[in-house]
Amino acid sequence: MYLFSRQKVWKHLGVAEAGFAGRVVLITGAAGGFGRAAARRFAKAGARLVLSDLDKTGLDHLRAVLGQSNIDFFTEQVDITKENNWIAHIEHSVERFGSIDVAINNAGIGQALQPLEATSEDQFDRVMRVNAKSVFLGLKTVLPKMIAQGGGSILNIASAAGLVGAGQMAAYAASKHAVIGLTRSAADEVARHGIRVNALCPSFAPTPLFDAMADEIGARHGMTRAEAYGRVTERVPMRRVATVDEVVQAMLWICDPANSFMTGQAVAVDGGLTAV
Ligand SMILES: NC(=O)c1ccc[n+]([C@@H]2O[C@H](COP(=O)([O-])OP(=O)(O)OC[C@H]3O[C@@H](n4cnc5c(N)ncnc54)[C@H](O)[C@@H]3O)[C@@H](O)[C@H]2O)c1
Repeated sequence: MYLFSRQKVWKHLGVAEAGFAGRVVLITGAAGGFGRAAARRFAKAGARLVLSDLDKTGLDHLRAVLGQSNIDFFTEQVDITKENNWIAHIEHSVERFGSIDVAINNAGIGQALQPLEATSEDQFDRVMRVNAKSVFLGLKTVLPKMIAQGGGSILNIASAAGLVGAGQMAAYAASKHAVIGLTRSAADEVARHGIRVNALCPSFAPTPLFDAMADEIGARHGMTRAEAYGRVTERVPMRRVATVDEVVQAMLWICDPANSFMTGQAVAVDGGLTAV
């Protein structure tokens, strides 16, 4: 119903029925590795963009870059761990664009590589707050808008560490398992409103988050970053990290309105890591 009426509008306007033409796509962590690349790709597919990050300088840079193209977007500094930030951000998004068709809960942090027993309570709480509580708050704030407008699609960026355990990264793995639990539960609750909720589970891809992890491994074992990349991919059947674009490609596919019967799924894009 929702998709049908949109398609009719596009046809009437003579707009190519690209999956995201005219659709409003919200992306958190937009100044980061996946976020920046996703913003560019969704814009190329015709989307209007709502872009947020905690990193104001990164967001200013993104605004300067996107401002050089004919892209309809706005940026806002948002701390996704704060409910009042979410409420204001969604209000501003709806004021600006009228709807939110796709919401991508992408922002997240890694953790220092260490045994579980060496992880402090504060470290655990912080990772859970930024990676898991933020997704709960995002869902809680965005869903009422999508229910009111009659549909939408939400994508939560989890991790391969949300599907299987990850030694030396217990807090991170716990936070990403929580993201998948939230995804499946929300999908069950809102399917009848025409809202799809899915999770994407990448393994390793060259972004600032992963580079920090590779550098930590490198410093510990006297390796270059490239050698550390080799070390972490020893167990990946494809023996390499993903490109950022491979991960973003999966984001577009999962959120595409044509992918209309898929919900509640946690999709691995991991070179086979979690298959063996
Ligand atoms: N890169 C990988 O190998 C990889 C693998 C699996 C999952 N992921 C997940 O992908 C997502 C994106 O990560 P990335 O690799 O692009 O990392 P990144 O560090 O490049 O980007 C993350 C962004 O999130 C923002 N952020 C952090 N805390 C925030 C907060 N409280 N409020 C708002 N924004 C905040 C950061 O400022 C940053 O711009 C994360 O959820 C991460 O866990 C990444």
